Amino acid sequence: MPESISLNDGFSIPQLGLGVWQVDPSITAKVVGWGIEGGYRLIDTAEGYGNEEGVGEAIRSASVPRSELFVTSKLRNRAHERDAALREFDATMRKLGVEQLDLFLIHWPVPKQDKYVEAWKTLIELRDAGRVRSIGVSNFNRDHLERIIGETGVTPAVNQIELHPRLQQRAARAFHAEHRIQIESWSPLGSGRLLDNPTIDGIARKHGKTIAQTIIRWHLQEGLVVIPKSVNRDRIVANFDVFDFELDADDMQAIASLDAAGGRTGADPATASFMF
Ligand code: A2P
Repeated sequence: MPESISLNDGFSIPQLGLGVWQVDPSITAKVVGWGIEGGYRLIDTAEGYGNEEGVGEAIRSASVPRSELFVTSKLRNRAHERDAALREFDATMRKLGVEQLDLFLIHWPVPKQDKYVEAWKTLIELRDAGRVRSIGVSNFNRDHLERIIGETGVTPAVNQIELHPRLQQRAARAFHAEHRIQIESWSPLGSGRLLDNPTIDGIARKHGKTIAQTIIRWHLQEGLVVIPKSVNRDRIVANFDVFDFELDADDMQAIASLDAAGGRTGADPATASFMF
């Protein structure tokens, strides 16, 4: 079974979850339902994914009580100003149909817009009002983190960033450890691009596991929270079947050597300024 990880605010988060980025709204309830049946307790969505209603529907029809599920959503980029952020948070809660959110993140810092400090203050307000338990950020670089911590004195519980064997984020991880900010890995399978990697394939075969399972196991052993996405029932179930083997030091070393300049598959947080 997956571990839970303690956050710097005293709450905890399941270490393995289901990501629903790019899951079509029309199938999201079904996909999340498969995930919950398969053992997932953490569901990671965002306003920008357009599928919060489907997540809400799956939560309501699940055989597992709401209290055992951990639901994350994220504030859209064009709603960093306080009024907009409060309004969008209300919309998220309406769509999800939950009383309290487990984790709410600022989706991107959008440095060009320069409103993320105001967004962070609003998340603190929502947390203090009890509407969300834990608050954090996504795609924040060190300078963005230092700024929000410096201006508010509140350290995010989580930073969700692109992280996989081709983009291991070693320098960032030291800073996060110092501040006890839990990293969550998005695109943990390298957006699917690592699934034919010969090094990982060798390790996977040694353990009688698939490449995807081996990569997910690597995230777990690195102490990361990991949210692989799949819309396929068998793959969703298989991605959760990672608690019966362990990568040894040689395996971990071999995967460490895959870190590469230019390994990023998504946008660069320093410059990303898309509005949604
Ligand atoms: P699909 O949804 O068709 O299963 P990431 O989480 O890094 O963004 O990667 C997601 C991509 O990897 C998706 O394209 C997903 O496709 C694919 N994927 C997820 N799990 C597996 C798996 N176990 N085997 C093969 N492909 C997978």
